[in-house]
Amino acid sequence: KVVAVIMLGGPTKGTRFRPLSFNIPKPLFPLAGQPMVHHPISACKRIPNLAQIYLIGFYEEREFALYVSSISNELKLPVRYLKEDKPHGSAGGLYYFRDIIMEDNPSHIFLLNCDVCCSFPLPSMLDAHKRYGGMGTMLVIKVSAESANQFGELVADPTTNELLHYTEKPETFVSDLINCGVYIFTPDIFTAIHDVYINREGRANLRRLSSFEALQSATRTIPVDFVRLDQDILSPLAGKKQLYTYETMDFWEQIKTPGMSLKCSELYLAQFRCTSPDLLASGDGKRSATIVGDVYIHPSAKVHPSAKIGPNVSISANVRVGAGVRLIGCIVLDDVEIKENAVVINSIVGWKSSLGRWSFADGNYNAKLGTTILGEAVTVEDEVVVISCIVLPNKTLNFQ
Ligand code: GDD
Repeated sequence: KVVAVIMLGGPTKGTRFRPLSFNIPKPLFPLAGQPMVHHPISACKRIPNLAQIYLIGFYEEREFALYVSSISNELKLPVRYLKEDKPHGSAGGLYYFRDIIMEDNPSHIFLLNCDVCCSFPLPSMLDAHKRYGGMGTMLVIKVSAESANQFGELVADPTTNELLHYTEKPETFVSDLINCGVYIFTPDIFTAIHDVYINREGRANLRRLSSFEALQSATRTIPVDFVRLDQDILSPLAGKKQLYTYETMDFWEQIKTPGMSLKCSELYLAQFRCTSPDLLASGDGKRSATIVGDVYIHPSAKVHPSAKIGPNVSISANVRVGAGVRLIGCIVLDDVEIKENAVVINSIVGWKSSLGRWSFADGNYNAKLGTTILGEAVTVEDEVVVISCIVLPNKTLNFQ
């Protein structure tokens, strides 16, 4: 049997995702009309002999209860939320729930970061992992040399694919091959994490013998029960014939900022063309709006037939789109109203916001602060133009 674990983080993380993470845990923010975490979960469905999916985070349990029960029913597969009492780190969180994860006696454990967007080639990773015969295999991708230092950079053996060297977010360039945050491990990973705790205790004991002050400074820097997968496990185990790499040639992005969520929504919409074409709006029928390219429209949304939508637009529940509206490259969240002849480009429109007649919102996700983001319940009055702005919740934009 195989189990999958998705690391969600918690409310103290995801701060770069503000103001959108004020309302909703980042893993539930919709990309292509589905919660962010829904994409890795539905990819797990393709893993042979998958017994369970665990979501590990330190968000309140009630925030995930509804989603977890509906997705379990939909996929006919048990999905369970496990809440940490505090952050234990990306490997510490996994270790904290080792007894529950091992209940099904799995031979393999997938570990996925929830804030990455990719095609999750999990069955082929599993095949490669079995061929390599190590303790773990990680998904890797080549990126531009300029962007590599935002990620874990690594060197792999070109013939055996063994991980030879790993450095997390290095200051000086190591390699343009980076860690995608998608792994498969045998249960030996728990022994590897356990060894980190034991070594730390040993070191702390040594310091205690030599000086009380040194112990104090050591415990201040790393809490004893906080273990990071990258620095504490991948770096020391590189070059020891235990870890291997599997390179994806498909798309991959990390979702840390609201601007990246627009880009990733676009990538997932494009993927729906192959995986779930039924989720894409067709624009067929006399009474439907003009649809350009990939568009998702929630069934409860009301879009005027004279509106023109797309490409790369996703419209959530109970949204009303008026006559003559033009939407390009945007995410429109629940209960938004977009009045007649408004134009919205490269923007995220927050829950319950409203855009007035002939208003214009524009942004550009390639520029650093480019995307226009309207927080919850923002009112843009008639004829107001908003360009590359982040607007905090409950604000009104008018001419006064
Ligand atoms: N449950 C739980 N508890 N989850 C956590 C915790 C924790 O204490 N700490 C982090 N996570 C989750 C995050 O939500 C995220 O999904 C994942 O674990 C990794 O988060 P970080 O440790 O903050 O690392 P990162 O996202 O900056 O970078 C990692 O991922 C990149 C790929 O997206 C590194 O592994 C990089 O090397 C890698 O390139």
